[in-house]
Amino acid sequence: MIQLFHVTKEYPGDGPALQDVTLELDKGEFVFLTGPSGAGKSTLLKLVFCDEAPTSGQLLLFGKNVAKIGARAVPYLRRNIGVVFQDFKLLPQRTVAENVALPLEVQAMPDKEIRRRVKQLLRSVGLEHRAEKFPPSLSGGEQQRVAVARALAPAPALLLADEPTGNLDPERTLEVMQLLADANARGTTVLVATHDRSLLERYKRRVVLLERGRLVSDGDSIRRAPGAGAGAGG
Ligand SMILES: Nc1ncnc2c1ncn2[C@@H]1O[C@H](COP(=O)(O)OP(=O)(O)OP(=O)(O)O)[C@@H](O)[C@H]1O
Ligand SMILES: [Mg+2]
Repeated sequence: MIQLFHVTKEYPGDGPALQDVTLELDKGEFVFLTGPSGAGKSTLLKLVFCDEAPTSGQLLLFGKNVAKIGARAVPYLRRNIGVVFQDFKLLPQRTVAENVALPLEVQAMPDKEIRRRVKQLLRSVGLEHRAEKFPPSLSGGEQQRVAVARALAPAPALLLADEPTGNLDPERTLEVMQLLADANARGTTVLVATHDRSLLERYKRRVVLLERGRLVSDGDSIRRAPGAGAGAGG
């Protein structure tokens, strides 16, 4: 589903944000991407969403080399990808309900069906009562949950979530994680960037650890204490 081969990303005038990263995600996986602030988590998600291009190396999405598909094909690729951006990127002039409806309108879903689905999604993130509000009038955590609802709306093949619980209290965090797990159970491949170690410990999933742009571990070894005899893990 996602394949990176020796991918390096350098922003102009800066050192590499990602360096020689090789990583594969299979269809149906649920993977955490973790590491300290500045490690390159958001950069990796931006590459996968084709918001940024690798400086070198290869990126394949759904088996296609993104460097070769051309800019005009990117919107079609993105129809299969739901994203929760770290800074939400909600449209301020559209209501909460209209924001969540956006990816469904792109799919040309009938209006009645859109209204039904939006209502159900807003209920699932506890925001039915905010449907007609505009994003700037919501709290950070509320905006984050709108972003989650919008990303899940089209039941995407791939969900990219950048710190999707970063603004939530523990209770809301569990609710949002459950929504991501439910989507995964329905077949969505999920990649979640987080530096919240408690999530990694609670949900025993594959963990990819970045440090200063390099992939330093991939598997379950991060859950063990250093020196606890963690094997290479295949
Ligand atoms: N648009 C940009 N232009 C220049 N440098 C950037 C840009 N975006 C990110 N960087 C740099 O790339 C590095 C990785 O940033 P990135 O946002 O990917 O880290 P992160 O792991 O998501 O961090 P955080 O946990 O704080 O969200 C940082 O050193 C950052 O300053
Ligand atoms: Mg980030």
